[in-house]
Amino acid sequence: MASLTWVVSFIAVTAIIFFTGTESDTSLACSVIQGLPGLNGRDGRDGINGLKGDPGAQGTPGSSRTPGMRGSIGPPGKEGPKGNVGLNGLPGQKGNSGAQGVEGPKGEKGDNSGQSATLTNVLNRLSSLERQMNQLKQSISSKMKALLFARGATAGEKTFVTSGKELTYEESKAMCLKAGGQLPLPRNSEETKAILDIAQYYNLHVYLGITDIQTEGVFRYPDGKTLTYSNWNTNEPNQDGDEDCVEMLLSGKWNDRACKDKRLNICEFS
Ligand code: GLC
Ligand code: CA
Repeated sequence: MASLTWVVSFIAVTAIIFFTGTESDTSLACSVIQGLPGLNGRDGRDGINGLKGDPGAQGTPGSSRTPGMRGSIGPPGKEGPKGNVGLNGLPGQKGNSGAQGVEGPKGEKGDNSGQSATLTNVLNRLSSLERQMNQLKQSISSKMKALLFARGATAGEKTFVTSGKELTYEESKAMCLKAGGQLPLPRNSEETKAILDIAQYYNLHVYLGITDIQTEGVFRYPDGKTLTYSNWNTNEPNQDGDEDCVEMLLSGKWNDRACKDKRLNICEFS
């Protein structure tokens, strides 16, 4: 194989030299003397391996041998290297509660050196009063609701309440004084409306605490002072006969009236 390669190579090199020389003849136009043939080249390198051959014929079976005795157990091998860290185990069960600890020593008394005993006492009483105040407010609020239901009305700081009775001026006045109040003395439209709410509920006229008993034609409050607010009906007061008292009509307007007539008793509390 190597020899064949060299032969092919030699022919190829000789052909190249030959054709190159022919070209030079035409271009240079000079004479050439042919030399001796060169030495053979060295063997070429081995070619690549050929394809795998077919399998050979099956050999004849060999003779059987008797197996020998089993040898004794060899010595233990050397200790192997340390293994990898294993996987985490499952969580354990919850343990029982521990026993109660022993009570610690009593703490030191607080420092109230900056606060006198008197001041501490006052502050304690103040907070106690605040608690009582709140309880009273709630209690009063609840009782007012009960009082005002059907029988009363409020206007500012005033509360008007009826006994539901129909009385003469003197009877009504006496009942209010005995109860700790007085006959109504409306001094503005809000108070007029509060009295009127009750009067309209009972559908009855009401005596006010105003008269002209002291001086005919001059209506006054119980303390003798003259009126600062009035709500007379048209053409009133007309002094129709002997009319020294004043009633509130169902319109809220005033009419001078005979004091002996009976009217719904309403009292004013402030
Ligand atoms: C009745 C009343 C009187 C009132 C008059 C008005 O007579 O008794 O007080 O002024 O009616 O019309
Ligand atoms: Ca009148």
